[in-house]
Amino acid sequence: MVSQQGTAGPDQGDTAPFLRALAGETLPTPPIWLMRQAGRYLPEYRELRARAGSFLDLCYTPEFATEVTLQPIRRYGFDAAILFSDILVVPHALGQDVRFVEGEGPRLDPVTTLAQFDRLKPEIDLGFLSPVYETVARARAALSPETALIGFCGAPYTVATYMVAGRGGDEQAPARLLAYGEPETFQVLIDRLVEASAAHLVAQLQAGAQAVQIFDSWSGDLPPAEFERWSTKPIAAICERVRARVPGAPIIAFARGAGAKFGAFAHAVPANGFGLATAEDRVAARAAAPAGAALQGNVDPLALMAGGPALDAAVDACLRDLGSGPFILNLGHGVRQHTPPEHVAQLVARARRTG
Ligand code: CP3
Repeated sequence: MVSQQGTAGPDQGDTAPFLRALAGETLPTPPIWLMRQAGRYLPEYRELRARAGSFLDLCYTPEFATEVTLQPIRRYGFDAAILFSDILVVPHALGQDVRFVEGEGPRLDPVTTLAQFDRLKPEIDLGFLSPVYETVARARAALSPETALIGFCGAPYTVATYMVAGRGGDEQAPARLLAYGEPETFQVLIDRLVEASAAHLVAQLQAGAQAVQIFDSWSGDLPPAEFERWSTKPIAAICERVRARVPGAPIIAFARGAGAKFGAFAHAVPANGFGLATAEDRVAARAAAPAGAALQGNVDPLALMAGGPALDAAVDACLRDLGSGPFILNLGHGVRQHTPPEHVAQLVARARRTG
């Protein structure tokens, strides 16, 4: 499909609804996309994944990664596609060994000392990630102008938890112990991740991504002072670096589980939009957010899995609480693996009032 030139200004009516919401517009029907909208709950993903080999092979093969990026758009007509990749390609492109163990998740060779940090590359190897940027370009060329393309990275704190522990899940303790025991050492790692993440986002925007999301999946557990130092400040620094290179780049910051820290976060981070996790109080978040900021969220992924009247009620409650301001409908975290695909169609129809 040939797309029209993407030169529409932010206030022109033909801009993708997702980008209009991020620019601060309140739309009668919210734009919709879902975190982890491509993935194992989709039979067409599982089929391609089996052919591709490992998860990282899938991420680094543009033909396959583009196809997976587009699968949920074809099926559901979401308002935005998200690049199919992973937050751990950044440590991989810094020279850390990263692999995904079937049924267990990511494994990395842990780095915990300055000497180990110095054995990584001083700067992110963008050439190593060229298949990712090629995927962005291919996906953008295949999408219609109404469907926006989102690039992303992990926030420095979340990525650091994997780099330090060598694994994910509930293993944030090693990074937090390092941050308490040797804050200057941990700061070195965070600062390097700020530069690497900003460079990775800029490369995605230059390849055709129209907005970027920064995922901080684990910072919500930090006490307020640590949250400000390790989550808010590094994310704000990434926004500033990206905007210096790509003026006006639309950014969504998702500090999952920020809770009572959300207002301070949203005022300190110069993003256009803020993701809300499942347990956030939506009305309190709107009151705490800067005027004009778009809010994104936060249907419970388990309501999506349940389907039926509970899912309709969850979608309706989100629209009621957030629909009167700039708003993007999403989940509060990613789509779960065993979610029935028809429940996703139900969510879209309910939000668009077509079903
Ligand atoms: O559809 C999309 O949202 C785009 C692609 C995407 C993936 N991961 C694909 C993926 C995105 C945006 C991510 C982000 C990501 N990756 C985060 C932040 C968001 C969050 O969920 O909190 C984190 C913490 C990771 C790290 C990661 N990647 C873990 C812990 C795992 C293992 C757990 C799991 O679900 O398997 C992954 C693997 C992963 N990333 C898969 C997918 C589709 C599953 C891989 C497979 O097919 O086996």
